[in-house]
Amino acid sequence: MDTGRSSSNHNESDVTMSETQRPHWGSKMGFILAAAGSAIGLGNIWRFPYITQQNGGGIFVIVYLLAVLFIGLPVMLGEITIGRHTQRNPVGAYGRIAPGWRFVGALGIISGLGILSYYSVVAGWTIGYAVKSIGGSLDPNGFGAFLGDWRQQIGYLAAFSLLTSFVVASGVQAGIERMARVLMPLLFLLMLGLIIRGLTLPTAGAGLKFYLMPDVDKLTTKTFLFAVGQAFFSLSLGMGAMLTYGAYLKKEDNLVTCAVAVVALDTLIALMAGFLIFPVIGHGLHKGGPSLVFVTMIAQFSHMTGGTVTAILFFVLLALAALTSTVSLMEVFISYLIDEWHMRRLSAVVLTGTLSFALGVPSALSLGAVPSLTHIIHGKGFLDIFDFAFGNLALTLGGLLMCIVLIYRWGFRHAADEVLGSSPKFRPFAQTWKILLQYVAPVAIAGLLIYCLVTGTGLS
Ligand code: PFF
Repeated sequence: MDTGRSSSNHNESDVTMSETQRPHWGSKMGFILAAAGSAIGLGNIWRFPYITQQNGGGIFVIVYLLAVLFIGLPVMLGEITIGRHTQRNPVGAYGRIAPGWRFVGALGIISGLGILSYYSVVAGWTIGYAVKSIGGSLDPNGFGAFLGDWRQQIGYLAAFSLLTSFVVASGVQAGIERMARVLMPLLFLLMLGLIIRGLTLPTAGAGLKFYLMPDVDKLTTKTFLFAVGQAFFSLSLGMGAMLTYGAYLKKEDNLVTCAVAVVALDTLIALMAGFLIFPVIGHGLHKGGPSLVFVTMIAQFSHMTGGTVTAILFFVLLALAALTSTVSLMEVFISYLIDEWHMRRLSAVVLTGTLSFALGVPSALSLGAVPSLTHIIHGKGFLDIFDFAFGNLALTLGGLLMCIVLIYRWGFRHAADEVLGSSPKFRPFAQTWKILLQYVAPVAIAGLLIYCLVTGTGLS
């Protein structure tokens, strides 16, 4: 349904005022690095390799690439397009293109805050382990005690929240973009160095076999659902992070090259993560999640020559990847407070940082420190419940609603005009984009949502 209301429902003086004050990326490359920084995170480095191995190795990689291409990329372009068109935070953006649908943006900023709270807990562990490796006190058997120590849990959560707040408080260009320009190349180099080190280990051959050996028997409907879920989380879709970053793009920036570059970089790093983790481990993984990185990898580091340095670099790598993601999660809420509540950036950061820290405390204490938080519903602890509710359900629901709003409320033609304005060469592909957004992505996402609801489990 094409109502044409998008351009008529806001008043001009409002646009002129906010558009001149609105921050923008210094360049398109600044956006690409910051958005790739959001996408590349813990999801790539430890979740992707593990999910790949458990879901059929090489076969899963192929299904994942298809999910990224046919679902991730079109949804990414959709989110960035809504952001650039409206130059607003998710709530304001949906309000502009489809009055009455502001709640989709609200769902996004709430899930952003929810994810930020528990993601910062895990991110805090990476600093904790970087510190431990520098002090030479890494112990593969020490993870349980670490999780049960409330001082370390709260301390590292606070440290990571402060770090994120500091970057976000410095602003879009001076904070987020500058951080991404320095950290992303560094992350890439660190990863390359660690991969090369891993490939020289005697365990490399066996590890790579486990990672990539196709196991066709594992190819089921679940494989497709896991691939879609992983693509969503990994590409930071469904909660308005890409929309928020897209809202700092200028009218002349080519949206298609932006979306393609971010998706390609995220996928490259995910694939590289497999080449980093498996050669070091050398055998199949039976457990994913935290124990992969904080137990199994450490056990391997302790046997190898130069293990301490490798461990330090590995945890620094994880911390950097996590930081560029938490910054984007926080910026979603910040942009809302600035746009809709006219708050100053610093006050917005203080409020959001405090809120996400407070919300993170129960997650930080739910892995051993406070027994009543470890089993809340069906044996799941607080952190797992947050991951399920926000990292699985809310993201997928948000993605589904984005497709519906773009196609049926805003009208595909407006979205296509926004893209074609700066990327005229996209014209022959516009119809394919429409089909993917109207049919392919919603069906796949709805399938995933139903799976999560019916089984009551997420994908971690
Ligand atoms: N994409 C990040 C990762 O792979 O770790 C996680 C994430 C960041 C999800 C930002 C959602 C988001 F908005």
